[in-house]
Amino acid sequence: MEKYVINGGNVLNGEVSISGAKNAAVAIIPAVILCDEPCRIENIPNISDVSLIGRILQEMGAEVKRENKSTLYIDPRKINSYCATTDLVRGMRASYYLLGALLGRCHRAKVCLPGGCNFGARPIDQHLKGFAAMGARHELVNGAIIDVRSESRLRGNNIYLDVVSVGATMNIMLAAVKAEGQTIIENAAKEPHIVDLANFLNSMGAQIRGAGTDTIKIRGVDYLHGITYSIIPDQIEAGTYMCAVAATRGKVLVKNITPKHLESITAKLREIGCEIKEYDEAIFVDASKRPLNRCNVKTMPHPGFPTDCQPQFATLLCTVMGTSIINENVWDNRYQYVSELTMMGAHISVEGRLAIIEGGNKLTAAPVKATDLRAGAAMVIAGLCAEGTTEVTSIQYIERGYENLVEKLTALGADIKKVYYDEADRSLRA
Ligand code: EPU
Repeated sequence: MEKYVINGGNVLNGEVSISGAKNAAVAIIPAVILCDEPCRIENIPNISDVSLIGRILQEMGAEVKRENKSTLYIDPRKINSYCATTDLVRGMRASYYLLGALLGRCHRAKVCLPGGCNFGARPIDQHLKGFAAMGARHELVNGAIIDVRSESRLRGNNIYLDVVSVGATMNIMLAAVKAEGQTIIENAAKEPHIVDLANFLNSMGAQIRGAGTDTIKIRGVDYLHGITYSIIPDQIEAGTYMCAVAATRGKVLVKNITPKHLESITAKLREIGCEIKEYDEAIFVDASKRPLNRCNVKTMPHPGFPTDCQPQFATLLCTVMGTSIINENVWDNRYQYVSELTMMGAHISVEGRLAIIEGGNKLTAAPVKATDLRAGAAMVIAGLCAEGTTEVTSIQYIERGYENLVEKLTALGADIKKVYYDEADRSLRA
């Protein structure tokens, strides 16, 4: 087992370079299933979710090679199965993209129900509604495997999403790329990774218009050719470092990013009193000049404040004076980290979708666990600010989404180490 050991109190200063976007990579890699030639994907983050989706494609017959730290070569021509039903598939949320990609290629997909972080119910009814509108029916096998099939090539249709869903928008896009005729997705999600997936598919010869707006039109094509493509920077990794810098009252240049993707986070950091300078591909965050203030945050689909930065921003708000209110408007149950922060001295009460933070109490070190990926990032931020030595366990969640977290934070001046420990040690805590 591994854990992070953080000696808190160091102020973050310097420069950090952001890796490729996890949530783009985990869609673009399965999208290669639709391609008729090999592809090379650059700026791939070196994180466990990416390794997992790569191994799943390998199990299905694709050739997947890491050419260097951030480049993946994928040859999908030998894929010989429409089934993805091994344990690997259950280990991640984004395995649901195999449904759309395999349906597009084989007109059939048998895929385990996806796993991933637990925020309460994570339905995929809108994905299935989209596939059904294109002529595919589905059944649930043994309560664990979704079997979706259509007798022939999928047919384009108009699909209105009842909820703005990132996954459903991307999955329907994948299924529609090689369908007959035109598919229109209305009330589509607009996240940067949706635009990235559309750009990737269009570079291969797909005809997708309107990605990044709430209406996406996809005209089906017969053939997709191989390309080299570079994935966008990770908006949430960048937002996480920006929160960490502000929480420690540091000054850091966050590089290799698209500032436009970070506008909602930048606006909130400015509101609480950080000085922010935007450059073409970098943002300078300076939280050292004056005391920071409270604020309220409501998470929303893009371009609103991202739910995936909510736990990190909430932790930052614990360090400022005054009462802040968070309204988690995307997921039902994304406050599991609150009990861990409370152990570190934070004053937070949760009422349904609201978290009320009484800020300004000094955080103190405690043994805490990462209850999910972003909650884990929040624990690391709390550890950086806390007095004493914080130990964060269950870091496998964090490593699903953050490349070289320890190295990047250490370069900024943090005192954080990854250490090995055994189960017996863990049971002492329980
Ligand atoms: N929803 C439905 N039906 C559906 C799909 C979604 O009701 O068929 C609801 C969900 O229950 C939720 C809301 O719609 O309340 C939004 O869910 P969405 O489908 O947008 O989420 P997702 O595609 O499962 C992705 C990211 C999450 C991120 C959300 C929201 C990936 C692999 N995951 O999940 O990222 O929180 O969008 O932005 O892209 C993370 O990176 O830590 C993470 C959890």
